[in-house]
Amino acid sequence: MSPTNKAGKTKFQLDLRRHLREHYVNENLTHLICEIAEASKYIIHSISTGDLGVAGTSNLYGEQQLALDVLADRILRKRLDHSRVVANMMSEEMDEIIPVSPDCDGKYSVAFDPLDGSSLVDVNLAVGTIVSIFEGCDLLQPGRKQVAAVYVLYGPRTTLVYSVGKGVHEFGMNMLREYTLLQENITLEPQGNLYSPGGQRNLYTPGVEAYVNKLEERGVKLRYSGGFVPDINQILLKGQGIFFYPHLKNQPQGKLRLLFELSPMAFLIEQAGGAASDGHRPILDLQPEQIHERSPVFIGCKKDVALAEEFIRKLEDDKSKTG
Ligand code: F6P
Repeated sequence: MSPTNKAGKTKFQLDLRRHLREHYVNENLTHLICEIAEASKYIIHSISTGDLGVAGTSNLYGEQQLALDVLADRILRKRLDHSRVVANMMSEEMDEIIPVSPDCDGKYSVAFDPLDGSSLVDVNLAVGTIVSIFEGCDLLQPGRKQVAAVYVLYGPRTTLVYSVGKGVHEFGMNMLREYTLLQENITLEPQGNLYSPGGQRNLYTPGVEAYVNKLEERGVKLRYSGGFVPDINQILLKGQGIFFYPHLKNQPQGKLRLLFELSPMAFLIEQAGGAASDGHRPILDLQPEQIHERSPVFIGCKKDVALAEEFIRKLEDDKSKTG
């Protein structure tokens, strides 16, 4: 049944391509984002019906690849490869940049995590695809240079969230497998009352531990799904909250990958009026040296991110200076 407005008339549902055009996004970028949306239709089908076992291979991080990781990667790569608007691409599942076209003019370079949180599929929790888009050939750029970021969330419903630097917009997949507009210009409150903390608590450094205590004293509620896409989506759609996967005593760079996970999500969260920091600097200002670089992250409402930075500065940086 089509949605109706209060007068009982069928509401016109704005689709993704039309929304991009109405926002004056150029043809090539519109085409690229729509190709990502097309790929997600095959990925959701694989998630719903595909093999939940391991692929028998491991990725660069030594993590066992699931058959679904490999399939989602193949689906997205093929789509981008044939899109005619991609110069270079790189996947979280691959070891190196994959050149597509030597001609960079009017083309885009794309970094993606085809199936983030894939180990949650066998317990039927939400997972997602994350995509970061730069103009031209260069992928090793600070996130601030992105021209667009997109994620697709495969939850009880499939939704797509994108920004081309003109606000953050959410689309839902309808019965015809088309993405239609759900919400435009999503914004975050300055401060929130939920937190999603990644990493083992007994490995938190003094600044992060004190920060968590402070949040808990304030009555902030714990809401962690274990999937980066649903956790960020929760913050965006509730309009408040903070996610962090901090530096740990035994993992100073945390867990999450700068280019495939953090830069695109930081772009979306900043576009919604929030902030994203590695504890010292904005994630979007970090210059990646390597493709598979990791970084600690504190991402969400501005004041909550600033408070994390303050605790880290006072309890870790200042202390190390004074010995
Ligand atoms: O990077 C993959 C990922 O599954 C993210 O989606 C998620 O936020 C994080 O790892 C969870 O890590 P952990 O299992 O250490 O909580």
